[in-house]
Amino acid sequence: MEQYIITGGHELHGSIPISGAKNAALGILPATLLCSGVCRIENLPQISDVRNMLDILASMGVRIRYLNKNAVEIDTTHTQNVPTPYEMVRKLRASYYLIGALLGRFGKAEVALPGGCDFGFRPIDQHIKGFEALGATVQITEGGIVQVEAKDGLVGASIYLDVVSVGATMNIMLAAALIKGQTVIENAAREPHIVDLANFLNTMGADITGAGTDVIKVRGVEQLHGCTYSIIPDQIEAGTYLALAAATGGAVTVTGVIPKHLESITAKLSEMGAEIEEGDDTVTVRRDSSVRMRRINLKTQPYPGFPTDMQPQFGVLMSMAEGTSILTEGIYDNRYRYVNELRRMGAEATVDGRIAVFEGVEKLNAAPVHAPDLRAGAALIMAALCAEGTTVIDEIHYIERGYEDIVRKLKSVGAEIRLVEIPDGAALERAN
Ligand code: UD1
Repeated sequence: MEQYIITGGHELHGSIPISGAKNAALGILPATLLCSGVCRIENLPQISDVRNMLDILASMGVRIRYLNKNAVEIDTTHTQNVPTPYEMVRKLRASYYLIGALLGRFGKAEVALPGGCDFGFRPIDQHIKGFEALGATVQITEGGIVQVEAKDGLVGASIYLDVVSVGATMNIMLAAALIKGQTVIENAAREPHIVDLANFLNTMGADITGAGTDVIKVRGVEQLHGCTYSIIPDQIEAGTYLALAAATGGAVTVTGVIPKHLESITAKLSEMGAEIEEGDDTVTVRRDSSVRMRRINLKTQPYPGFPTDMQPQFGVLMSMAEGTSILTEGIYDNRYRYVNELRRMGAEATVDGRIAVFEGVEKLNAAPVHAPDLRAGAALIMAALCAEGTTVIDEIHYIERGYEDIVRKLKSVGAEIRLVEIPDGAALERAN
């Protein structure tokens, strides 16, 4: 088992290059299945979610060749439409994109229900509604396998999403790219990674317009071809490092970013008292650590609202800001499991359903904690880097799902963090 050992209480200074976007990569990799040919994907983040997705593709006969750490060549010429093994799929929420991609290419798919972070009930009814509207029949077996088939082929249709869903929007785009007629997705999600998937599919020869607005039109084409494509920078990775610099104080610049994607985050950091400076592809956060941050209220919403994937990181900021801050989770039912861990570090916070109230304290203190999920784990790293003393974080495999080279990147701006391997027995002893 691996742990992070972190000693906090220092300001951070320097710059951090931002990797490719996890959630764009996890849509784009399965999208390569829609062609029979070779795609070269660049700026691919080297994280465990991406490696898992590549393993799943390889299990289907797709040939993967790493060109360097962040670029792969994916040859889908010999893809077999075989059921994807549950053991591989359960690790990855984004495995649901295999359904849309396989349905689009082969007219049928069999994929186990997805895993991923546990934020409470995460239905895929809107994905299913979309596939059915295009003419597929969908069955979920007792063993939790989603079987989708379009015996008479798929035909474009108008689909109104009852909830704004990133996953359903991307999955319907995948299923619709190669079929007859036009598909219109209304009340579509508008996240940057939706635009990136549309741009990738269009580079492969698709005809998609409106991505980034709430009405997306997909005009089916007969064939898609291989291409070279570079993934956008990760909005959440960048946002996490910006929030971290505001929390510890100091001055950190994230480089290789699209500042527009970070506006909802930087606006809130500025409201809390941090100084923000935007360049063409950089954003800098500066804060004097001797002055406390100001309290704020915040609600997570679909893009361009404040992202739910930055909610735990702001929980940490609120736990140290002066006064009472109110945080409302607008997307998921159960995304506050990190609050218990923060309390162990001295935070004063209560949770009632989707609302958390933080009475800011002057300082957090070190404590042994565990990462309950990916972004909550990143938030606990932030808390540990602010706390007096040395914090040990367990269950860090969640964090490695989404942050490339996090230890090296943090050290480069002056953080005291190291990764240690401990024998499993020792972990059990501590847990008791
Ligand atoms: C994706 C991201 C995740 C991020 C989330 C919100 C991936 C692999 N994951 O997750 O990192 O936290 O977007 O930005 O890209 N819903 C339904 N029915 C559905 C689908 C969704 O009710 O069929 C609900 C969900 O329960 C949730 C909301 O809609 O309350 C948004 O979900 P969605 O945008 O689909 O998020 P995910 O794809 O799960």
